[in-house]
Amino acid sequence: MEFQDVVRRRRMVREFTDEPVSDESVRRIMRNALRGPSAGYSQGQAFLVLRGEETASFYGSLSHLWTYDTVKTAPVVVVAFAVKDAYLDRYAEPDKGWTDRSEDRWPVPFWYVDTGMAVLLVLQTAVDEGLGAVYFGIGADDFDRVRAEFGVPDTHVPIGAIAIGHGAEQDASPGGSPRTRRRRPFDDAVRFGRW
Ligand SMILES: Cc1cc2nc3c(=O)[nH]c(=O)nc-3n(C[C@H](O)[C@H](O)[C@H](O)COP(=O)(O)O)c2cc1C
Repeated sequence: MEFQDVVRRRRMVREFTDEPVSDESVRRIMRNALRGPSAGYSQGQAFLVLRGEETASFYGSLSHLWTYDTVKTAPVVVVAFAVKDAYLDRYAEPDKGWTDRSEDRWPVPFWYVDTGMAVLLVLQTAVDEGLGAVYFGIGADDFDRVRAEFGVPDTHVPIGAIAIGHGAEQDASPGGSPRTRRRRPFDDAVRFGRW
């Protein structure tokens, strides 16, 4: 698929058919996820790929589902994690020199920024594979339960999950925000030279 078509067609899909997702598609999606940029090449991103019954265990570990119930039928769930320590360690190296490992140095925590970039690669590669996907948040109250359920280290913050499958929606999800909000006008969001 042309890159421009991937960008244009990508939207959150919240209803799926029962068609399985091939292992090749999953592997390509995840390989691409690891090709995103990261500050200092810290690469503090990690992903838990869940399939079949594992996805039910994931949903079972959530006290609140921050998206539609229909999402639960997607055959694949990828939980994306941000690993702050990877950044603090990397920036304590001689070429960066922040040996105090202070979090005050990070007004914008790049571990979240970079994991968000990786998530977009997951969403875009899903489109390129002819699939649909939705990213949704995980409540802070559920972080420990999700980690415990799958043996994920405490250093890993689950910034959200991506459900992936064959989409069964023709248009934006019913009730989804794009149904009631317009895309922001280009000239409002983008200024050239001066605000
Ligand atoms: C940081 C972030 C958090 C989001 N959280 C949720 C969520 O918890 N549940 C959900 O169904 N969609 C969630 N979305 C999807 C947005 O609602 C969606 O991206 C937005 O309405 C624009 O629609 P589109 O992505 O289909 O173009 C989230 C998106 C982002 C970037």
